[in-house]
Amino acid sequence: MLIALMPGDGIGPEVVAEARQVLEAVAGAGLRFEEAPVGAAGYRAEGHPLPPATLDLARRADAILFGAVGDPACDGLERALRPEQAILGLRKHLELFANLRPAKLYPELAAASALRPDIAAAIDLVIVRETNGDVYFGEKGLRTTPAGRRQGYDVMSYDEDEVTRIARVGFETARARRGRLCSVDKANVLETSQLWRDVVSALAADYPDVALSHMYVDNAAMQLVRDPGQFDVIVTGNLFGDILSDQASMCAGSIGMLPSATLDRAGKGLYEPIHGSAPDIAGQDKANPLATILSAAMMLRYSLGDPASADRIERAVAAALAAGHRTADLGGATGTRAMGEAVRAAL
Ligand code: NAD
Ligand code: IPM
Ligand code: MN
Repeated sequence: MLIALMPGDGIGPEVVAEARQVLEAVAGAGLRFEEAPVGAAGYRAEGHPLPPATLDLARRADAILFGAVGDPACDGLERALRPEQAILGLRKHLELFANLRPAKLYPELAAASALRPDIAAAIDLVIVRETNGDVYFGEKGLRTTPAGRRQGYDVMSYDEDEVTRIARVGFETARARRGRLCSVDKANVLETSQLWRDVVSALAADYPDVALSHMYVDNAAMQLVRDPGQFDVIVTGNLFGDILSDQASMCAGSIGMLPSATLDRAGKGLYEPIHGSAPDIAGQDKANPLATILSAAMMLRYSLGDPASADRIERAVAAALAAGHRTADLGGATGTRAMGEAVRAAL
């Protein structure tokens, strides 16, 4: 199996290095690694955030382990050259449309959650976020109004096939869990969301074993901190899913804990933590590598057909936490490398 490593920027290389060593420890003999630059690193090396050779590697690989992209020094570049285009481009070019973001609280981390422990304890949900459409990929630009004012615009849209394919992933994910799917939209205001709601509702007939509900995104943001235990699977669009998953991460203790898988129709996947390049702590051995290590576990489960090794990694993460290891985001002083080492020692 060929694994593409795309460490990227900021803390990306630090967390990917730890996850790679975990993969080598559990499944080393069967894996081959090839690394390629993305983000600001891609721009500096090849003049583009997603260089052609990097995209080619992504296509050839059986799975991709992605760190993070983003560098404040690049915020002034024209949009097409900004680091973030690397992850957006990979999702789009490879049709990685189904982003699964599980959020659950490790009991050892009850004190790290932003919620009261009795409320936080119940969080165990998956956000199924669409990543090929929405306002992210609509027509966008800067124009001048008739009155001479600058005006920015970004068009939000989904067609029914795009909604159908992500909704099916939502229903199937719920079916394999506790059988509850909550579709999150803003149908009271947005036409895009009304179509979304209509399409998801019509599909429910194919999944009589799944209990479907709908919720407006503003209420969902509130319910997520009021009572996260009410959710099993949330299916939502690109923008709402981006925001709700960062919020869910703090219910579960830290943004440094949440992994993700982004899959195409065939099950090929890109695996990455939900967090970004964290320039404020980059290069200081402070980043929590667990989100990336848990993303590697998702890779073993979804793309490499090795659920036993995935389980092993998840148990080792729990063991490292139970032994008291905590990075700074979790209120401790364990470094990135020491945390990775603690997981490997617990395997
Ligand atoms: P961020 O997720 O990088 O950081 C937000 C806060 O969380 C920071 O204080 C950071 O130190 C902390 N944090 C994040 N990951 C952590 C970890 N593993 N361990 C400990 N603390 C962690 O979000 P931001 O600051 O809004 O964005 C920084 C850059 O990252 C931007 O350029 C943004 O576009 C980019 N970004 C990239 C991705 C991606 O590559 N998929 C995701 C989000 C943001
Ligand atoms: C994420 C990030 C990206 C997104 C950015 C960096 C383009 O926030 O992966 O969550 O918005 O999808
Ligand atoms: Mn995000």
